[in-house]
Amino acid sequence: MSEFIQAMQWRYAAKRMNGQRIPDETLSGILQACHLAPSSFGLQPYQVLVIDDPELKALCQPAIMNQPQVVESSHMLVFAPWRQFDESAVDLWIERVASERNMPLERLAGMAKTIKQKVAGLGSDEARFQWAAQQAYLAAGVTLSAAAMAQVDATPMEGFDPQALDQVLNLAERNLRSTLVVCLGYRDEAEDWLAPMKKVRWPYHDVMRLLTQQDV
Ligand SMILES: Cc1cc2nc3c(=O)[nH]c(=O)nc-3n(C[C@H](O)[C@H](O)[C@H](O)COP(=O)(O)O)c2cc1C
Repeated sequence: MSEFIQAMQWRYAAKRMNGQRIPDETLSGILQACHLAPSSFGLQPYQVLVIDDPELKALCQPAIMNQPQVVESSHMLVFAPWRQFDESAVDLWIERVASERNMPLERLAGMAKTIKQKVAGLGSDEARFQWAAQQAYLAAGVTLSAAAMAQVDATPMEGFDPQALDQVLNLAERNLRSTLVVCLGYRDEAEDWLAPMKKVRWPYHDVMRLLTQQDV
């Protein structure tokens, strides 16, 4: 565990990166961790777009407030939840579970009903998108942790215009919307004003509260 805590202390949201490329094997490990992230019902209602094409990164940069990490990163990930989905996506997922676990579809009928109720109960395309985005954020969190363990810098970014980025990447055509960008690469310590700064969090016990029955 101490190795993981050290990695989390080492990581920070680098503001400048040095353009160095992440070795394929290291990148593959980070992306596999992302792929293994949990999601509600396992539905994984998102895609993660992996961009290393320098020209495409440059095209995206204006939509991402011209943040320098975009073009200085090795790879830019765009976490893109499904734009619109309904019960048919659940049917596909249930078929996948049945086939991977070698189970008859009928045994999954209860699970299918529960997931469909959840999806329908969200009530609108926007609510379903927001729910999908929550799952994508969880995957992004796993990605940041995996990157830290691999001594790769990872900057999560909400500082962008999602509609503009969606347009550059033609995401509507893929039934996706962007919700979070993560730049992966290596910090440029000389150029990054944040590199020498202390990490700041609320005091530990202000966030981590032990709760017992007497407290509620
Ligand atoms: C959802 C989210 C959006 C963020 N957006 C940006 C961003 O657009 N640009 C940036 O440089 N950092 C961004 N950050 C980084 C945060 O400012 C940073 O994680 C926070 O200050 C904690 O510091 P640390 O990650 O360096 O420990 C974002 C972080 C999160 C989780």
